[in-house]
Amino acid sequence: MLAIIGGTGLSSFQGGEVLGDRSTPYGATSADIIQTSIAGQRLFFLARHGNPHQIPPHKINYRANLWALQQLGVSDIIAVNAVGGISADMPVGAMVMPLQLIDYSYGREHTFFDGDGLDLEHIDFTHPFCPLLRQRLIAAAAASGLKLIDKGVYGVVQGPRLETAAEIDRMESDGCDLVGMTAMPEAALARELSINYASLCLVVNPAAGRSDTEISMADIQRVIDTGMSRVRDLLTAAIGR
Ligand code: HPA
Repeated sequence: MLAIIGGTGLSSFQGGEVLGDRSTPYGATSADIIQTSIAGQRLFFLARHGNPHQIPPHKINYRANLWALQQLGVSDIIAVNAVGGISADMPVGAMVMPLQLIDYSYGREHTFFDGDGLDLEHIDFTHPFCPLLRQRLIAAAAASGLKLIDKGVYGVVQGPRLETAAEIDRMESDGCDLVGMTAMPEAALARELSINYASLCLVVNPAAGRSDTEISMADIQRVIDTGMSRVRDLLTAAIGR
């Protein structure tokens, strides 16, 4: 069973049945989970920041979100993330499916192996994203003529502020191509629960110091308004496969 976790700019996907119970042993999920169906495929949708979009990245209850989806039988998650572009080959408006992660976030509840019940396991996280899910999206993009960059390193920062130019320079020298605030601990928690996980990113701004103009929410919103429809198209194409 597939789930989509929507990020900034994707607080709803399409209508469906609202599953009212948001409670988990870890607290409440960000929003009600929606059960819907596309091209004959049942799937779930969850808005990471709540609906309406209110929960900042560091306050998201990632554990509750992942736990609730697993309880519903979810085996695969496509996560949607709005990100900043660091490297020159990650232009504004690009859809990117990163291959790797670096986690700079801190102070988040980032594991289910917290010494309170589950037997400790050190998950293998060498390859944070599921190759089969990635392949499904790559094939769907090719089949529907949508441009998708299928590489890149996503650096996860704490936020909610954006970065300094020097922080972005450091991230670039670390190897980051993209900067965002939400892929971690989400991806690792999915792996702890043995859920396949892939991230589909929309580049919504040049990262700090990568353009001459100030990064404004209005400019970001304009990119989201035009770009998220391509993300929806790609998700729909991938679900149908
Ligand atoms: N930095 C961090 N997170 C982001 C950005 C950014 O520039 N754009 C969208 N999410």
